Amino acid sequence: GQLNVLAKLAGKKYFGSAVDNPALADLPYKRKLSDIAEFGQITASNTLKWETVEAVRGVYNFTGGDELVALAKKNHQLFRGHTCVWHSQLAPWVEAGNFGAKELTSIIEDHCSKIVGHYKGDIWDIVNEAFEDDGTFRKTVFYNTLGTEYFEIALRVAHKADPKTKLYINDYNVEGLNAKSDGYYNLIKALKAKKVPIDGLGVQGHLIVGRVPTTIRENFQRFADLGVDIAVTELDIRMELPVTPEKLEQQKKDYATVIRACKAVRRCVGVTIWDYTDKYSWIPGWFEGEGAALPWDEFTRAPLVSLLFGAS
Ligand code: G3I
Repeated sequence: GQLNVLAKLAGKKYFGSAVDNPALADLPYKRKLSDIAEFGQITASNTLKWETVEAVRGVYNFTGGDELVALAKKNHQLFRGHTCVWHSQLAPWVEAGNFGAKELTSIIEDHCSKIVGHYKGDIWDIVNEAFEDDGTFRKTVFYNTLGTEYFEIALRVAHKADPKTKLYINDYNVEGLNAKSDGYYNLIKALKAKKVPIDGLGVQGHLIVGRVPTTIRENFQRFADLGVDIAVTELDIRMELPVTPEKLEQQKKDYATVIRACKAVRRCVGVTIWDYTDKYSWIPGWFEGEGAALPWDEFTRAPLVSLLFGAS
């Protein structure tokens, strides 16, 4: 079955894929990415990060983002912006300036309102990777200067720039119940209590074959009960190479575990894979000897794992 079709039949809003602009020169790749039966949503995997979009203070470069938005529009796909406030791939001037609280606040406000305002309409990861795995706040320039206030600053200004955009905070290792997802639970609860606009938790889903958490569904459900949506935003399930039939079999089960959890929780709105083919996966570049994390192999031929949105 085709993934977006199956996701919709399961009551979800979309099945999607991340994409980075250089890959669009690969026409068979682009053709598959543009197939609405497979992908109802695309995420900008690099081009809207701070270092690219505002490399120089106050000078915005929307070229890459505009290319992806135009493609999504043409294909009738939803678009996910990624990401406003993140300590990584951050423009060096933001840290180098040693700004005080007041100035950093206006820097965040300018940045988030410009980009969310430019890309009105769909979905944004407003804050990315704000916690450590032990559940404490990550000591970024934003946290060190503003404390937890920066969540509120970014979310409020994004909402003002476009009240229709769905605003998420997004992280890895928050799939199951653990100290880090507890941190998000408490944060979202506090934001809600203060009436700060927050629509969802993005659960990245960078997982390892055979090591998928067993409490995904319970975790998703507790966020749903708090009154926010959940989206799986960057799913890939890597393995140690070489690929074997056994590992692929386990991987298929692992994908199904994640998809089933999303199916089971009404407020889990959709699943996005972090690109759809191993040809453009970030994994081999980051984890030596690992790969084959995505449903399509590097020839972009057939999915090696069937993502069983239709199955029970
Ligand atoms: O564009 C340059 C190219 O000119 C140069 O020749 C090449 C040599 O290394 O590097 C290229 O830049 C790379 C860029 O991806 C584009 O391919 C960077 O080195 C590389 O660090 C960067 O990696 C990205 C990574 O975020 C950085 O943190 C990955 O593509 C991207 O998929 C990944 O995405 C993150 C999400 O944003 C947040 N969650 C985790 C996820 C995976 O790390």
